[in-house]
Amino acid sequence: MTSLARSAEFARLLDLAERTAATSLQARFEADPLRGERLCLEVNGLLFDFSKQLVDSEILEALAALARSSGLEASRDQLFAGEIVNTSEQRPALHVQQRAEGAPGLDLVRSFVRALRRGDVLGATGRPLRRLVNLGIGGSDLGPRMARAALEHLDDGVIEVRFASSLDPAGFQRAVDGLDPAETLFVVATKSFSTLETGVLAHRAVEWLKSSLGEGVSIADHLVAITGKPELAARSGIAAERTFLIDEGIGGRYSLSSAMGLSVMAAVGVPAFDALLQGFGDMDRHFAEAALEENLPVLHGLLAFWNRTVLELPAVAVIPYADGLRLLPEHLAQLLMESNGKSVTRSGEHVSTPTSPVLFGAPGTDAQHSFFQLLHQGTMAVPVDFIAVASGPQGPHDVALANLLAQAQALAFGQSAAELEATGTPQDLAVAKAMPGNRPSSILAIAQLTPYLLGGLVALYEHSVFVQATLLDINPFDQFGVERGKELAASLAPQLRGEGPAPEGQDSSTAGRVAWLRSHRE
Ligand code: F6P
Repeated sequence: MTSLARSAEFARLLDLAERTAATSLQARFEADPLRGERLCLEVNGLLFDFSKQLVDSEILEALAALARSSGLEASRDQLFAGEIVNTSEQRPALHVQQRAEGAPGLDLVRSFVRALRRGDVLGATGRPLRRLVNLGIGGSDLGPRMARAALEHLDDGVIEVRFASSLDPAGFQRAVDGLDPAETLFVVATKSFSTLETGVLAHRAVEWLKSSLGEGVSIADHLVAITGKPELAARSGIAAERTFLIDEGIGGRYSLSSAMGLSVMAAVGVPAFDALLQGFGDMDRHFAEAALEENLPVLHGLLAFWNRTVLELPAVAVIPYADGLRLLPEHLAQLLMESNGKSVTRSGEHVSTPTSPVLFGAPGTDAQHSFFQLLHQGTMAVPVDFIAVASGPQGPHDVALANLLAQAQALAFGQSAAELEATGTPQDLAVAKAMPGNRPSSILAIAQLTPYLLGGLVALYEHSVFVQATLLDINPFDQFGVERGKELAASLAPQLRGEGPAPEGQDSSTAGRVAWLRSHRE
């Protein structure tokens, strides 16, 4: 049993969970009418209302006690000091430190982007490069793609930015559809410079350029790299002055605030990107300095730990009620599940408590017409992070926000069969229509989707993931779980192409599917 599971602090949380299980949110609000104001915290323009979570002051104190006994403050200071916090790979995690000190390579990115936006970066035919396609996957795609979407109202159209991450040729084709190769720049975004998908995409890009511009032109004029392996970029023919560095210690899912944000900077300009960094940095400072009880990332992380590891709720939904944040759930899915989807502690023990929930989400109100039925009447409670943006470029989001607040109320307070019958619903129908309530949610609200507030929101989640990992005593900065699949795929691809036999002892499902797929390939 791990030290967490053996700890008195964890035992107290389990006891509190049992003792308060029967206390409804309705009862909690009736007992404390100002609960909605008391369990609310605003920091740097982000308001966090956690009053509809299944907690009370005693539980919050017990969670803070566990955080202290888990050494959260010391671990946080180690992270900020650039110490070895990625214990399995013996590396620091530098996404915070490079924001505080200014990433060395980011100035080179700023200079390049300014030149690009002035029209001073010319392609092989002498025309300015006005179209940018980011080729990357995982953290080299999801964060930049999300931020670009969130800030598209600031996109002045000087540089058109697109993304490609898929191995499917149709994905690349969609990304370049309608683009003129003579004015198109490809950003080969890969920290390792060894990711299969990005290598295939880069090859496709070179072929696409050559097919239009001809063999003899300097294709390298249409390529830049963002990588931690400049020597590999050079070997691929990308010029050193077109290679922007990302430190080995910055994890892909934590790299939006590094050179990996080049495509976002190209779309919205250097000042807006720097405002994004300011939002990250101010939330970093808040996380570093605020007392645990008034610390937004700490509270968010403690509540996530309470829901997943104490109440054993298996999932969490992130529902942004703003079109600009439509890609946020996908970015957060990688951030949380690639960080905390672990089952071994930092000291090598198998965990004896649940670790990461499954994170999913979609924009509201679309999600209300998709999976909210399960959230309201399913057999499992799914905590929800509602994200409210008071107004957008076209004005207030009143109707959308009315839905957000209504959903949070309905999840929290439900509607009993008795209430329904009292309003004339027949008894048999009332049973089917009854909603249990007591389904926890939080509201994260910002005034507008500004770069600053977006940076603070992303940093909040980055640090909440770290808080959860620290309480769980797991390493959030490695991702060994993704390696085995890559190895197996490398041996299966030739088999699918008919270039090699099935390996000895291959399972009949894989062997059978290879045969079927080969028989159906065009
Ligand atoms: O999914 C594994 C992973 O290494 C992610 O952590 C990373 O963001 C992604 O692949 C892309 O890696 P790279 O930037 O090295 O191409």
